[in-house]
Amino acid sequence: LSLKKIRIGKHIIDNQAFLAPMAGITDASFRSLAIKFGAGLVVSEMIASASLGAGQREMVRRLKNDFLSCANLPHIVQLSGNQERWLELGAKMAFDAGADIIDINFGCPSKKVTNGLAGSALMREPDKALRLIETVVKATDLPVTIKMRLGWDEDNLNAKDIAKSAANAGVKMISVHGRTRQQFYKGKARWGLISDVVDAVNIPIVVNGDITNIKTAKMALELSGADALMIGRASYGQPWIVGQVGAVLAEESPIATPKDAALLELMLEHYEMMMSEYGYTHGVRVARKHLNWYLAAADIKVDKQIMHQLLTNKEAKQVKNILRKIFQKHMQEAA
Ligand SMILES: Cc1cc2nc3c(=O)[nH]c(=O)nc-3n(C[C@H](O)[C@H](O)[C@H](O)COP(=O)(O)O)c2cc1C
Repeated sequence: LSLKKIRIGKHIIDNQAFLAPMAGITDASFRSLAIKFGAGLVVSEMIASASLGAGQREMVRRLKNDFLSCANLPHIVQLSGNQERWLELGAKMAFDAGADIIDINFGCPSKKVTNGLAGSALMREPDKALRLIETVVKATDLPVTIKMRLGWDEDNLNAKDIAKSAANAGVKMISVHGRTRQQFYKGKARWGLISDVVDAVNIPIVVNGDITNIKTAKMALELSGADALMIGRASYGQPWIVGQVGAVLAEESPIATPKDAALLELMLEHYEMMMSEYGYTHGVRVARKHLNWYLAAADIKVDKQIMHQLLTNKEAKQVKNILRKIFQKHMQEAA
């Protein structure tokens, strides 16, 4: 494995491990943490272009980037959609909001998205997909990247063909999740099949799917021949994982996994960030899944009743106190 620099337009990325976009999870707060721990790139949550155009609050939040410290990483906004006019408007709005790169989603398997013929459904309509790509490329001067799957199903593994026409249309980087749409999240990601895409084009390819640690990261890079990798679900409760993998690939020493007091401090910091991103009432609710994930990832045992309190309490101050008590007990037991 050789360390590769990845060029996306004028941006040069010298870290091969990226955080995958995950709607409802990789919000500005989560991305800031991933960056702090050394992620090579992060991508916004998917923004449905038609809803953004209609001013829907959730999509406007996803586009907002005011308090995201991107350090010196380019800010990537991911759009989805199936109509040229909305994608064009979305791209322009993303530009105005300070995006550096625009990514188009051709990978989402959700019925809500595919019934509207967006996300991975567009892999069944390569001509339409190409028109949408061309529209976004033309809409602004920003570099455009795409994210897709291997194809719709086993009979239509057309990632390679779409990659070729996308690269011809000016797309600068492509991420491929090694599953078909019909697999949803079942089975295993097939990293080896991504090598066809790598061989077909001269732009950077990012391998994605089921990468959870340094071992699987190396396997995925080796089998696919991709230039970089993207980690999604394995970052639940471990926003440092992407940075750790990137560091090891660069033959640097990875930061230590936050434990005990350091983990508590990180969780409290993340909690505060979510309050400012979502506002108090909504923030308390959407932060719960992260608290749960952190504790699970750290294998911290919590009494059922206390866990219930932690995940249902509506007062941020009380939630933080419960969390402090959980850690007190955990650290006493470990001592
Ligand atoms: C909860 C969830 C939300 C996701 N949202 C998006 C999204 O907004 N845009 C996108 O391109 N992919 C999205 N994905 C797909 C991931 O980016 C990634 O391709 C997939 O999870 C496989 O990688 P992993 O095995 O590392 O998680 C989402 C996945 C999950 C689990």
